[in-house]
Amino acid sequence: MALIKLLPAHEIQKIAAGEVVERPASVVKELLENSLDAGANHIVLYIEDGGKKRIRIIDNGCGMVYEDAHACLLPHATSKITSVHELAVVTTFGFRGEALAAIAAVSRMTLITRHVTQLDGNKLVVVAGSVEQESAVAANIGTDITIDDLFYNVPARRKFLKTDTTEWRAIQQLVYAYALDYPACTIELYHNNTTVINCQHAESLEQRIVQLFESPLTKQLINFNGTTDDDMTLAGVMAGYQYSRFDRSQIYIFVNNRWIKNHKLTAAVIKGYQNILPQGQYPFAAVSLAMPTNCVDINVHPRKEEVQFLHPRKVETFIQETIQRHLEQSLQKRVIQEQHRAIMPAVLPFIEDNQKETDIAQNKQFVPISYSNDLSHLIPIPQQQNVQKIEYGASALDVVTTGNKYSDDQQAVVSVAPLYRIIGQLDHTYILLETDEGLVMVDQHAAHERIMYEKIGAQQSAPESIQLLFPEIITLTKSDYEVICENISILASFGFDIEVWGNCQLRINATPLHVKQHMCKDIVATLITELIESQDAQVEAAVFAKKIHHALRALMACKAAIKAHDVLQEHEMLDLIKQLFVVPNRLTCPHGRPTSWLMATYEIEKKFKRII
Ligand SMILES: Nc1ncnc2c1ncn2[C@@H]1O[C@H](COP(=O)(O)OP(=O)(O)OP(=O)(O)O)[C@@H](O)[C@H]1O
Ligand SMILES: [Mg+2]
Repeated sequence: MALIKLLPAHEIQKIAAGEVVERPASVVKELLENSLDAGANHIVLYIEDGGKKRIRIIDNGCGMVYEDAHACLLPHATSKITSVHELAVVTTFGFRGEALAAIAAVSRMTLITRHVTQLDGNKLVVVAGSVEQESAVAANIGTDITIDDLFYNVPARRKFLKTDTTEWRAIQQLVYAYALDYPACTIELYHNNTTVINCQHAESLEQRIVQLFESPLTKQLINFNGTTDDDMTLAGVMAGYQYSRFDRSQIYIFVNNRWIKNHKLTAAVIKGYQNILPQGQYPFAAVSLAMPTNCVDINVHPRKEEVQFLHPRKVETFIQETIQRHLEQSLQKRVIQEQHRAIMPAVLPFIEDNQKETDIAQNKQFVPISYSNDLSHLIPIPQQQNVQKIEYGASALDVVTTGNKYSDDQQAVVSVAPLYRIIGQLDHTYILLETDEGLVMVDQHAAHERIMYEKIGAQQSAPESIQLLFPEIITLTKSDYEVICENISILASFGFDIEVWGNCQLRINATPLHVKQHMCKDIVATLITELIESQDAQVEAAVFAKKIHHALRALMACKAAIKAHDVLQEHEMLDLIKQLFVVPNRLTCPHGRPTSWLMATYEIEKKFKRII
């Protein structure tokens, strides 16, 4: 007996829907893209229970006439292309004509739409892809689609949905991306009747970022742009080096206005920040790449989340270099400002009224720090019997005693201080030391981070707190608030005194000793990120606790530490170096970067061909 049978049409549709509709966020993506394709400049989204219960989207786009309101529910029905050749030039998000049919097949849909040319709207109630009711209704121009009970008729799919909180987070992330992609579009997003986004038309991406995000990100935005000789252009806004996150969730990449996920392009953005952000920390960047449509294939992913480039390496390099260049320019500007600030007190009395600030910064007499040549900074090696000489490891400071190489976290090295002289600061980032072994370069941020990390760890059993004069109020999204409320004790264990308020607010009354009030928001945000990531990855309780503690300690250390490009006085450098010599695990910062590096005199002599 023959075994192969044709599946009924409604079963085919349900199976096909699996490709397009993975989770509530994919429904939101398709509906949002349809609204943008319809020319909407005002979109309102209502989500209930992470989108599992209801997704409603209202737009003021062109709407659909009666016939199209029916046709849009059919598979392979589209107004956007008429032949596959047009794919090479298509500029709309949609082109397959399958999204609405797929969504309708696995939900209860209510579609109300009124075309610009019509006086009335049409309402269709669609259940599992079949129109059950229809009527003429009064409606605004545009389209209003409600999706209820997603996957109600495909229990196997519904079972695979994650918690409401996780599904909601995916929707939120998506709407943020589109809000960045279309700054001119007014976007409102509500979850379970709470307002999450309410962004009016913005004149620029920068203005949109300010609408969506808070300080400290919004305080240090850098605009960037670039072009190539083969018509690729890049434009965007990124955060300066002072802002970072522990995840990549704020790296948004748009290619010809499509929000895409591309591991390599994300890596290119991160590489643009290399040497600027410590390992394990990631920037904010909204990167918009425009290129000729024949250089990118948009039809390679079932949910159009990925694209394929004709010359992927070229695109990666272009992104990395553009970001790097603009970061460097911004850092240079900052160094001039820092120098200016560092010498301000001495200089101000001599400024002529009409002398401009730029003149001050460029004035040649303003060499910020002068280093004495005397040997008063030589630290004598203590007269200990077991101390023979001080050696430097291949990549960092290390101490060797007779017959005994102490491992880095053994306190035995504490009493040993090497012989050195501070030469000065290189690029206001590295402290240069002359030692009897050669030239040692200490990364001031990495070194101070390690010092702070160990200090915070040492105080963990009885953390000291500072009472804030004015409590810090932090407002969170509902989902973040819920996550933090369940884990408030972690922050308490570091010395935070936090009260949970209604209305998604936290009130911070006291902070740990090293934490300044302005860092609180970042620390709470990091805790949320770590908690979410660990919950999503379902890590074991012991690993979870360790990971969270490390992340928070590292963040506090990073925030409290002096930064690259901070101008240091001689005594500050000396203090830092003295502390570094006695801190455990001093070879690397908490993120694994080396704190110091030796260029042996022998190597230098070889370079200059004094020895062969
Ligand atoms: N919000 C809307 N406003 C106006 N027309 C719409 C809207 N949503 C859908 N349509 C119409 O319905 C058609 C079908 O939409 P659907 O999303 O199923 O396919 P598509 O957008 O053409 O392609 P894709 O499946 O790739 O998204 C669209 O081509 C468009 O003409
Ligand atoms: Mg579509």
